[in-house]
Amino acid sequence: MKCRKCGTTAVINMRQHRLSLCQECFLEWVPHQVQRTIEKFHMFVPDDRVLGAVSGGKDSLALWDILLSLGYSADGIYIHLGISDGDYCDVSQQKVECFAAARDVRFQVVNVAQEYGQSIPQVARRKRGRSTCGTCGLVKRHIMNQVACDGRYAVLATGHNVDDEAAVLFQNALHWATGYLARQAPVLPASHPRLARKAKPLIRLYEREMAAYALLRGIDYIYDECPYSKGATTLFYKDLLNQLEEKSPGAKQQFYLSFLQARREGRLLPMKSGQVDMSVCQRCGQPTTAPELCAFCRLWD
Ligand code: AMP
Ligand code: FES
Ligand code: ZN
Repeated sequence: MKCRKCGTTAVINMRQHRLSLCQECFLEWVPHQVQRTIEKFHMFVPDDRVLGAVSGGKDSLALWDILLSLGYSADGIYIHLGISDGDYCDVSQQKVECFAAARDVRFQVVNVAQEYGQSIPQVARRKRGRSTCGTCGLVKRHIMNQVACDGRYAVLATGHNVDDEAAVLFQNALHWATGYLARQAPVLPASHPRLARKAKPLIRLYEREMAAYALLRGIDYIYDECPYSKGATTLFYKDLLNQLEEKSPGAKQQFYLSFLQARREGRLLPMKSGQVDMSVCQRCGQPTTAPELCAFCRLWD
């Protein structure tokens, strides 16, 4: 297998693009794709200060690496969730620390248990009606938003890739969850002074490409998935989409990118815009649809 750009031995074949590339060309191609995505969706501009949410996994560390190599000013935030099974969070944090130290970039850690008195598994045990992942998602979103707003970052960037987005889209489409479909966008504007703009610059890249990028760039990341993600429905949908992709290369990407295009062109059923009346949480000041305290603040009571 030869690299289509330079003719040397290819290290990766991307069937959906009918493109095989050698290491050097692939390591140029990935950041180029990310730059195109950032521009196409008006995510941010070179002068913007970006806050990268880094979990210690391949996608978010690769994203940070790419943003820095493209010349963006990008700091990181790591949220320690207190998941101690297999020392999951301690190991993830170490990966982020090593990455930041090697590149001399700034990052901040928010330790949930130290900051709020309880780890995610502890809060989740108290809140019987909510899954651990659901609680975790709520806490992560709140903290990321808070840090991005407090630090006056122009945008919060996360490492969601095509596989993540297509799986969520599949799940939402199966349930015709129009509210969620309306909000599933590559970039969400800051619709309130206390809400950060959010961007997903990796939405044109497959999970396997991100793993290859991290490996070839020598990025040390945590291989293990979160212990609570075992049996998660998103993994089931990812698996289904991969089966489809195997038979029909590009199906996964087409499913997601066609959704974005249909949405842009207004070809979807009228969807709830996701714009609802918002008040401000009396404790933390973040926007909420609840009358007094936001869902995050209610968690700790
Ligand atoms: P997930 O929701 O775990 O699939 O993660 C989606 C994205 O959220 C990742 O690519 C990261 O950008 C961000 N993220 C997830 N977990 C953390 C964490 N513990 N700290 C900071 N960012 C995170
Ligand atoms: Fe939050 Fe797994 S990362 S429950
Ligand atoms: Zn609150």
